[in-house]
Amino acid sequence: MKIFLDTADIDEIRTVARWGILDGVTTNPTLYSKVGGASYEAILQEICKITPGPVSAEVVAEDVDGMLTEGRAFAKLAPNIVVKVPMSEEGLEAMSRFASEGIKTNCTLIFTANQGLLAAKAGASLLSPFVGRLDDINQDGMIVIRELVDIVTIHELETEVLAASIRNPLHMTQAALAGAHIATLPFKVLQQMVHHPLTTSGIVQFRTDWEKAREALAAKKGD
Ligand code: E4P
Repeated sequence: MKIFLDTADIDEIRTVARWGILDGVTTNPTLYSKVGGASYEAILQEICKITPGPVSAEVVAEDVDGMLTEGRAFAKLAPNIVVKVPMSEEGLEAMSRFASEGIKTNCTLIFTANQGLLAAKAGASLLSPFVGRLDDINQDGMIVIRELVDIVTIHELETEVLAASIRNPLHMTQAALAGAHIATLPFKVLQQMVHHPLTTSGIVQFRTDWEKAREALAAKKGD
C-alpha cells in the first residue's frame, strides 16, 4: 500500500521523505493557502524535486476549457505531476481529454462508489473518495472505500483507490484492510501512527536499565 502525504508544507514532506515511507503527495487549494509564501506552481516544483512519486495539483476552474488550461500548465511543471480534477460533468470531460493527452488525473471530491466508477471510466488514474468528510455528516466514509476497491477489483479497472480525507490512525488501518491502493494522510496522522505510549515508555525503560548496568559495572571495576 502506498502512503502519500496530504500537505503543501515542504518541511513536512522533507521529514517524511527522510523516514523512507513517502510514495507521493497530494495538495489542494486549502492546503496551499495554509503555507503560502510562494506561488502554487513554485511549491509544486519544489515538492516534485523531493519525491519522484505522483504529486497531485488541483485545478480550480469549473469549466472544461479552464480545467484543461490549468491542468496542462501543471503537467508541464514536472513529469510526476498528476492533475487533480473535481467530480462533475465538466470534470469527467476534462479527465477524459487529459487521458487522451497522456496526462494523469486524480479525481477528487468523490463521495459515492458510482462517482468513482464514472471517474475510472473517464480515465482517471487515481480515485479519491473522502472518508472524513462523509464521517462529518454522520455517514460511514469507509463504506465508499470498500465498495470502490471491490468495483475496481471485480472489473479490473486500470485505476487506483486513494483513500482521502483521512483524519485519524483508525481510518488508515481501516483503509488498508479495505484494500485501498493508496492513502493520503496529514502529517499529524502519520506522527500519530508512529507513536504509542508503550513504545515511548519502553524506550525510556531500556535506556534507564542500560545506564544502571553500566554504572554497576563501573562501580565494580572501581572496587
Ligand atoms: C486530498 O486529496 C484531499 O484534498 C484531502 O484529503 C481532503 O482532506 P480534508 O477533508 O481533511 O480536508
